[in-house]
Amino acid sequence: MSERALPRHVAIIMDGNGRWAKKHKLQVALGHRKGVEALRGIIRESSDLGIEALTIYAFSTENWSRDKAEVEALMGLLLEYFSSEIDELDQNNVCIRILGDKEGLPQKQREAILRAEERTEKNTGLKLNIAINYGGRAELARAARVLAEKAVRGEIRPEEINEQRLAQELYTQGLPDVDLMIRTSGEMRLSNFLLYQCAYAEFDFPAVLWPDFDVKAYHEALEAYMHRERRFGGRVS
Ligand code: IPE
Ligand code: IPE
Ligand code: MG
Repeated sequence: MSERALPRHVAIIMDGNGRWAKKHKLQVALGHRKGVEALRGIIRESSDLGIEALTIYAFSTENWSRDKAEVEALMGLLLEYFSSEIDELDQNNVCIRILGDKEGLPQKQREAILRAEERTEKNTGLKLNIAINYGGRAELARAARVLAEKAVRGEIRPEEINEQRLAQELYTQGLPDVDLMIRTSGEMRLSNFLLYQCAYAEFDFPAVLWPDFDVKAYHEALEAYMHRERRFGGRVS
């Protein structure tokens, strides 16, 4: 890979599991299962490359509107994921954080993610953030509510509320902004993901469906990122 700096924070919208299943004449749940396999490789590679943070979109606040069988399959897969992957993730020094409304999840899933967070909280390797029952607007509304409550209690003055204070109340507090946002399957939209954190992110929309997104495709996205010129509103001479 080239000599330029890798992104510190990569975010991925893992899209296309349904289309992958359809293409292979399989049930949608098998598409999601295949998606988990792809994820394993991408997490490992992110660790090996020394990327600081990887944030993945696993389930949006809008995904509850899918049919019951698919939602159940996804929730089942989630549970399975944490029991089958946690040993390896922990051994690889990965620190897991869940972004989203945990209260809105079924109890078993909530317990499994809390256990995974607790078990890996002191790990100093890749910061793996998994967005589950996550919505960017809900995240911002929640942050506003927390700040308003603090103001009412007299812990903060309204004029002290600034970008930093707001960022501290987001699920991503303490993480760098997203440098590279990848969405697979050719769709070119954010679908309510990391609205605040992507202010100056670079975007990449590979056509490949998520289950087919392999390390080679990941390297291509990273390479393309490393050739981008980032300006942050300034002027590059
Ligand atoms: C993304 O794949 C995974 C989740 C939303 C959980 P999709 O299921 O959205 O796949 P497509 O978009 O139908 O192909
Ligand atoms: C976004 O994908 C959510 C996840 C990948 C988890 P969707 O497939 O749900 O988004 P839309 O509906 O195509 O915008
Ligand atoms: Mg989709």
